Amino acid sequence: MSKGTIVLAYSGGLDTSICIPLLKERYGYDRVITVVVNVGQRDEEISNATAKGKLLADKHYTIDAREKFVKNHIFPAIKANGSYEGYPMGTSLARPLIAQEVVKVAKKEGATAIAHGCTGKGNDQFRFDVIIRGAGLDVVAPIRELNLTRDWEIKYAKEHKIPVTVKSGKPWSIDENCWSRSIEGGKLEDPTYHPNEEIYLWTTAPKQALNKPEVITIQFIKGVPVSLNGKKIDGYQLIQKLNMLAGKHGIGRNDLIEDRVLGLKARENYEHPAATVLLTAHRDLESIVLSRQEIAFKRIVDDKWSELAYMGLISEPLYMALNAFIDKTQERVNGSVDLELFKGTVRVLGRKSPNALYSSDLVSFDSSSLDQCHAIGVSYYYGIQGRMLNQFTKKKK
Ligand code: ARG
Repeated sequence: MSKGTIVLAYSGGLDTSICIPLLKERYGYDRVITVVVNVGQRDEEISNATAKGKLLADKHYTIDAREKFVKNHIFPAIKANGSYEGYPMGTSLARPLIAQEVVKVAKKEGATAIAHGCTGKGNDQFRFDVIIRGAGLDVVAPIRELNLTRDWEIKYAKEHKIPVTVKSGKPWSIDENCWSRSIEGGKLEDPTYHPNEEIYLWTTAPKQALNKPEVITIQFIKGVPVSLNGKKIDGYQLIQKLNMLAGKHGIGRNDLIEDRVLGLKARENYEHPAATVLLTAHRDLESIVLSRQEIAFKRIVDDKWSELAYMGLISEPLYMALNAFIDKTQERVNGSVDLELFKGTVRVLGRKSPNALYSSDLVSFDSSSLDQCHAIGVSYYYGIQGRMLNQFTKKKK
């Protein structure tokens, strides 16, 4: 029985390309519509995927979601100091948005199912599935369901005249958007393997980076970056610019052992110059604006927010509640941070905020506007419980 139309979240790579004939031959769909969502991949990647979608599918869409990605996914991540085990989560933040855009096409085209090319080992399958099922559509995941191997896929692609760009000597998988570029798999699966420079594209090796440091200033309003060096700049442009600028100084590389949703540990390499700079600046600005209690509690909230974002659980009620808390704290996160970019490191040079809970007059050793004698009374009580306990134990001896 014919099953009508299916919409495929498409990247132009081998996995999603072989899904096109598989969805017809193995699953019985009559029409396959491919959708590429632009979340800041390189232009070349978008144009290749678009050309391949048009060539191989019955109908193709390329959707520009860059603005939405920055405003609705990256800005909240900055406010939450979003980091999962040290990874700023570019892929994790983009997947729900890609799924939402594909859902819109499916509804428009009257399709009842969406396909994706995720394997059964990674995190992306869950990030896609939860959004697709939440929209009342069925999920088809051929690579996961048919348990396919790479060699089989290459043979199948050749038989179906699908152009395959097997990169010999570069056996790893890459996923990129404007927030981070991830490199995993192949040789990198051996955690003792020392990757060389060829895996990096956005960053210069720190030791070969410019010999001259560069100083930049980033201004934030309500926890969101709004200007660079005194000039107002739109979020996407700022991220692109910082990726170039900080990338040139070798900033934002990491090599991690990451705990995936399934519990598998995976070796991941990342580069994310703009994310490193913006997260460093944002966290620093919070340190002068928020109270000690807010900072300590927000650390816990930020960690939980990052875990949910990593898992793609953006429709989880807790995620929305955490966002409400974070937004409340960010109302006062206004001000600017000066940073130095130099040989792989971003260093805060100074910060200022109209909402600072900081008074140089109160804290200064050179000022007498706060009478030091007030501290004497506090000191009598300081650590009183521990002192009492010590006295009791001494007496018992
Ligand atoms: N481990 C990261 C995540 O789950 C990145 C996965 C990206 N995929 C890739 N093919 N490189 O978000």
